[in-house]
Amino acid sequence: MRLPGAGLLLRGLCLSVFLFSPAEAIDLDISDEQSIKDAASTAVYAMMTYYSGNETGQIPGAFPSKWWEGSALFLALLHYWHYTGDTTYNDELRVGLEWQSGDDGDYMPTNYSSYLGNDDQMFWGVAAMTAAELQFADVSDGFSWLSLAQGVFNTQIKRWDTTKCSGGMRWQIYPYQSGYTMKNAISNGGLFQLSARLARYTGDAIYLTWANKIWDWSVSEDSSPLINNATWDVADSTNMENDCTTRGDTQWSYNYGAYMTGAAYLYNYTNGSSYWLEAVDGLLNKTLDTFIPDSNGGIFEEVTCEPTEVCNNNEILFKGLVSSWLSFTAMLVPSTYSSIVPKLQTSAQAAAKSCTGHSNSTCGVRWYQSKYDGWIGMEEQISASDIFTANLVSFNAVAPVTSTTGGNSTSNPNAGNNDTTSTTTTSTTITTKDKAGAGILTVLFVVGWVSLIGWTVLGG
Ligand SMILES: *[C@@H]1O[C@H](CO)[C@@H](O)[C@H](O)[C@H]1NC(C)=O
Ligand SMILES: *[C@@H]1O[C@H](CO)[C@@H](O)[C@H](O)[C@H]1NC(C)=O
Ligand SMILES: *[C@@H]1O[C@H](CO)[C@@H](O)[C@H](O)[C@H]1NC(C)=O
Ligand SMILES: *[C@@H]1O[C@H](CO)[C@@H](O)[C@H](O)[C@H]1NC(C)=O
Ligand SMILES: *[C@@H]1O[C@H](CO)[C@@H](O)[C@H](O)[C@H]1NC(C)=O
Ligand SMILES: *[C@@H]1O[C@H](CO)[C@@H](O)[C@H](O)[C@H]1NC(C)=O
Ligand SMILES: *[C@@H]1O[C@H](CO)[C@@H](O)[C@H](O)[C@H]1NC(C)=O
Ligand SMILES: *[C@@H]1O[C@H](CO)[C@@H](O)[C@H](O)[C@H]1NC(C)=O
Ligand SMILES: *[C@@H]1O[C@H](CO)[C@@H](O)[C@H](O)[C@H]1NC(C)=O
Repeated sequence: MRLPGAGLLLRGLCLSVFLFSPAEAIDLDISDEQSIKDAASTAVYAMMTYYSGNETGQIPGAFPSKWWEGSALFLALLHYWHYTGDTTYNDELRVGLEWQSGDDGDYMPTNYSSYLGNDDQMFWGVAAMTAAELQFADVSDGFSWLSLAQGVFNTQIKRWDTTKCSGGMRWQIYPYQSGYTMKNAISNGGLFQLSARLARYTGDAIYLTWANKIWDWSVSEDSSPLINNATWDVADSTNMENDCTTRGDTQWSYNYGAYMTGAAYLYNYTNGSSYWLEAVDGLLNKTLDTFIPDSNGGIFEEVTCEPTEVCNNNEILFKGLVSSWLSFTAMLVPSTYSSIVPKLQTSAQAAAKSCTGHSNSTCGVRWYQSKYDGWIGMEEQISASDIFTANLVSFNAVAPVTSTTGGNSTSNPNAGNNDTTSTTTTSTTITTKDKAGAGILTVLFVVGWVSLIGWTVLGG
């Protein structure tokens, strides 16, 4: 039998004593390690009520209509285990993260591969990379975590597209997908980050070469307008149909977080290069000023969708992903610690006040309201879990390791190279049957993603 954290049980008892208690809350004392762990435990418990992949007849790690979100859930579980030491969910984590890797060990599982975007696959690669860096033990009878990250890297660099804009990753993989003619920040920033992390973990030159290549493409005005490296504004996307001359400048926190964190890994890997420090500082400054400003009480807000209450499930996850990445950045670039931690603290305190829903500590979307806002879902629970666990960075947290500092995940530099189904961007052969199936799935998928990324660009 699985029980919620002790904190929840205790609060349950308190509630029965103080009958007029308004709603069950997460009582977070941000200076107290155990209090933060209890808050995380409560949020993760509720998060896992949305996971049925461990039940008989269910598929581990599968979220059919929103496949990429599984990677966000497993990232939250990895951070939770790493920062709290609680192994309660490690079996679900290990089995699900392995199951979805597909036959070729590159997170292109055949059930989903025909409608994936580069960003979807990338997030699973980042989850596997995180497992390696946090010393989550490899499985004995499957792909190692490191090889899975390498598999994603190897399949993605083959899709580097030079037909327009002098390079860059397209948003989508196949020509029949809506968004195929766009190059977006999360696909490029995500692969940049994955490359940077592989470079630091393995020390292999190819990963550093690619990290630099993707970065240079992203900042160079001649090729891409995605990052303005004078203002550090990060645009969401650019359109190949006009040669990447226009910016879809909708502001999303994860675009900043993806690039900032990659730069943080490269700063650390290069033993403190001033070039990467300037990038980290510039992107961090813009991230904090835009999404976690003092004028907002230092509370993380996804500013493009929260004020008007139009955040979709993807967008609700961004704050959580970025909170975790901020905690890693604070460790990898120690000079950023004092700017980051206070913002994580004020955000977590507000998030805790939002977790007062339904008399069972359900968390809402808008932390800055400092009360429950009526929203409920897996994504809300993932982001709340992430902001709580990120605060444990203040308590002697262990930084991501490398192959020379304790990481033992098995390397396979050729991982993913057996996969021939997903590498061509120009001449993919698709049967009518595949096309119909993928088209339907793409419609489902695009409802979420295009509204997220595309409209500002597609609509002008
Ligand atoms: C909390 O209550 C809501 C409303 O009844 C329910 O949907 C949700 O599953 C509950 N959460 C937990 C963790 O039990
Ligand atoms: C599946 O995981 C959930 C959440 O951790 C747990 O409550 C449940 O007992 C597990 N079911 C099985 C069959 O292991
Ligand atoms: C793909 O679907 C089949 C049939 O439902 C299932 O048995 C298998 O586990 C799924 N694989 C993945 C990676 O989800
Ligand atoms: C790798 O390290 C992890 C974490 O320290 C450990 O649990 C695991 O047994 C190690 N694996 C091997 C093959 O040494
Ligand atoms: C900004 O990008 C340009 C290339 O467009 C490069 O020459 C310059 O070094 C970059 N500066 C920083 C601070 O990254
Ligand atoms: C960083 O420092 C370590 C330890 O001194 C050294 O082995 C390594 O080569 C250095 N890395 C770089 C990129 O300078
Ligand atoms: C970011 O930089 C601007 C200009 O230097 C400065 O006014 C602002 O306080 C900085 N913000 C943060 C969060 O450091
Ligand atoms: C790299 O990260 C480690 C772990 O947090 C830290 O001890 C070290 O100081 C960092 N390196 C640099 C150059 O800041
Ligand atoms: C690639 O295929 C070869 C030959 O079938 C096989 O030995 C190898 O294990 C495969 N590698 C991966 C990563 O699947």
